Amino acid sequence: MISRQKALLHPAAKPVLFLICMLPFAWLVFRALTNQLGANPAEALIRATGDWTLRFLCIVLAVTPLRVISHTPALARFRRMLGLFVYFYVGLHLLSYSWFDMGFDVPDIVKDIIKRPFILVGFAAFVLLTPLAATSFNAAIKTLGAKRWQMLHKLVYGIAGLGLLHFFWMRAGKNNFAEVFVYAAIVAVLLGWRVQQFLKKKKLQSLQNLRQSLSNS
Ligand code: HEM
Repeated sequence: MISRQKALLHPAAKPVLFLICMLPFAWLVFRALTNQLGANPAEALIRATGDWTLRFLCIVLAVTPLRVISHTPALARFRRMLGLFVYFYVGLHLLSYSWFDMGFDVPDIVKDIIKRPFILVGFAAFVLLTPLAATSFNAAIKTLGAKRWQMLHKLVYGIAGLGLLHFFWMRAGKNNFAEVFVYAAIVAVLLGWRVQQFLKKKKLQSLQNLRQSLSNS
């Protein structure tokens, strides 16, 4: 039986994942072309692309915990592509809003973003995602240095928080929070795992320091 690690390292693994990540987009295009987006196609497109942005954010945040818990280092090679798909779907989300809701009227878009706090929060998340997408290439990692690059990419938790707030605020008008709570629980578990790993590392470090100072004395 082909091992999990071997399958993930296969040259076809990345193209296959790419095609899987494109499926929601292909499904939306198909539904749009065959008039299957319901009574309000613009709203359906904005909402579906918003949902997929949040789903891909959760998937990206899950890669490291899954890699560590399942002892599958090869999972790390998919993180960058998954991160770029967050940007792809938020780009489509912004495009759908700017096109179908606002008719590409830039002054109107600026006014709307400032006027409606939930859109302002979504836009802030988009702005913060931009440097992450722009620095997801090897050359940028080299230029920034691994430490600074890692620090910058920790922004993804703040972005997930803003995305959740944006979703919460939007649903507050409709008093419909069930889905928001599901996503919030997923992000909380993933963030909680990170915090636990950080505390474990700190504890191990201080134990090592103590051992070293005892052996020096
Ligand atoms: C990381 C960034 C973002 C995330 C995660 C996100 C996510 C979401 C989600 C999950 C929804 C609700 C979908 C549903 O009801 O099923 C939504 C709706 C919406 N978002 Fe975003 N969004 C982001 C950025 C933006 C940006 C940049 C804009 C525009 C400037 C924007 C404008 C909207 C609008 C207009 C709606 C629909 C409101 C409605 O139908 O009444 N979002 N977004």
